Amino acid sequence: MQPCFKPEIKPVAAVILAAGKGTRMRSKLPKVLHKACGRPLLTYVLEAVKRAGAERIVVVAGFGAEQVVPVAKAYGEIVYQEQQLGTAHALLQAEKVLAGLAGDILVLGGDTPLITSTTLVKLIKTHQSQLPVTNSQEGICFLPASHLSSPTSKTAATVLTAKMLEPAGYGRVIRNSAQQMVKIVEQKDASPAELAVQEINSGIYCFMAEGLFKTLASLAAENAAQEYYLPDVIETYVRQGLPVATCLVENEKEIQGINDRCQLAAVEEIVRQRVRKEIMLSGVTILDPVTTFIDLEVKIEPDTVIYPFTIIEGACRIGANCIIGPGTHLKSVQIGDDVNISNSVVMESTIGDSCTIGPFAYLRPGTRLARKVKVGDFVEVKQSVIEEGSKIPHLSYVGDTHIGQGVNVGAGTITCNYDGQKKWLTVIEDKVFIGSNTNLVAPVRIGAGAFIGAGSTITKNVPPAALGIARGGQRNIPNWTKKKKQIKEENISQPEKRSTHL
Ligand code: UD1
Ligand code: CA
Repeated sequence: MQPCFKPEIKPVAAVILAAGKGTRMRSKLPKVLHKACGRPLLTYVLEAVKRAGAERIVVVAGFGAEQVVPVAKAYGEIVYQEQQLGTAHALLQAEKVLAGLAGDILVLGGDTPLITSTTLVKLIKTHQSQLPVTNSQEGICFLPASHLSSPTSKTAATVLTAKMLEPAGYGRVIRNSAQQMVKIVEQKDASPAELAVQEINSGIYCFMAEGLFKTLASLAAENAAQEYYLPDVIETYVRQGLPVATCLVENEKEIQGINDRCQLAAVEEIVRQRVRKEIMLSGVTILDPVTTFIDLEVKIEPDTVIYPFTIIEGACRIGANCIIGPGTHLKSVQIGDDVNISNSVVMESTIGDSCTIGPFAYLRPGTRLARKVKVGDFVEVKQSVIEEGSKIPHLSYVGDTHIGQGVNVGAGTITCNYDGQKKWLTVIEDKVFIGSNTNLVAPVRIGAGAFIGAGSTITKNVPPAALGIARGGQRNIPNWTKKKKQIKEENISQPEKRSTHL
């Protein structure tokens, strides 16, 4: 990885703790892989750390490591925590790759996705500023006496803290009468007085590397959870007379940790609002932001209008001057300019300029529409290419098909692409006209300019410019309805001679 640390701070290594199961999520998926706006929580943290300039990134993986590693390895090194014995034990695993490191180590949980690089840089700067050390809620300098006489004024640990109106669930920052931080107490272990404290531990720290792993190894798991608590490092350092500091986050929303699905939904909503705001400020109209869900990776060009009840997921690109929605679900699609999509579902497809989709169309993966294609109401298209200017206006299924330019597909046309074992291809060349209610039994090719009679079941290729027609010949029976009526009357008057024959 290219080192990209900010010149104003000394290089740091970052360790992201991502080995926990996330029991409170009640999920088979590791907590850090749950998604907000389509992106794993862990990726948010990794991006923030990268932007903050971390020179090395180490991810501690454990529960579900085989799923966590593919996400994490693009950003840095992986260490394993075989048994999840607590956050201190998790950080201790990084000793394998960071032993002997000089400098500082930034530590974060993988479950705080709203953290910004600006805040991380502020934390690192606070930690690295030699004197004075900010160690109070008010930002005044308070240093232990032992520290003032020590040969180095370097802070051993700086904790990012926040003031929360509802601190439940977080570790509380406990200060002495001089407002110095003396320890962090977990919710489970806190006394009623400690529970009332509103300053909380964000779970984000900057540590001096020297002595850290030795201290971690010395901690005991004597607490309600019987886990090795990383915040216990603070009490140990204070006892040893080493300087510790705090850095208060400006916006407490940033350090919102995710432990359960309610907190996941709360974070998701914050990210969604950010995404919608950014998209609107870039020139896109969203008629009803509350009912519009747009993933982080979506890019939309100006003057496109999004109608209510629309979901746009995955890496989508949408051009300019489009009308999307209402009631539309798009996933991983590439859409050109001037496209109109209403009440439809489009998945992993490419749509050219000036196409019209819906209402009530279903475009499945592998669909490619060139320019000016119309896919109308109740039409399903799968793994098919449709060239410029062709129209499938209503009630059709088109699968594994190549449709040329200027083709008209009549209502009720079905490509019969599956014989129960294999999928077969249908080719419809340029300027073909397919009459309504046609079955095209694949593999089959309709030559350029051919005409298919309505109601045909086409099983053989149709040469260019030919009429293909395959349906039962019509038979007209004169006066049939009159005769039917006559028989009915006779049956009523003479039931013993009952007849149904015409
Ligand atoms: C932790 C802090 C708490 C702080 C809160 C902020 C501890 C003991 N408590 O609590 O003071 O207020 O974060 O959000 O640290 N993890 C591992 N291995 C383990 C256990 C956890 O890698 O053995 C990872 C998890 O995957 C997670 C992170 O560490 O990403 C935090 O663990 P979590 O269980 O969520 O800690 P909290 O109870 O939230
Ligand atoms: Ca947590």
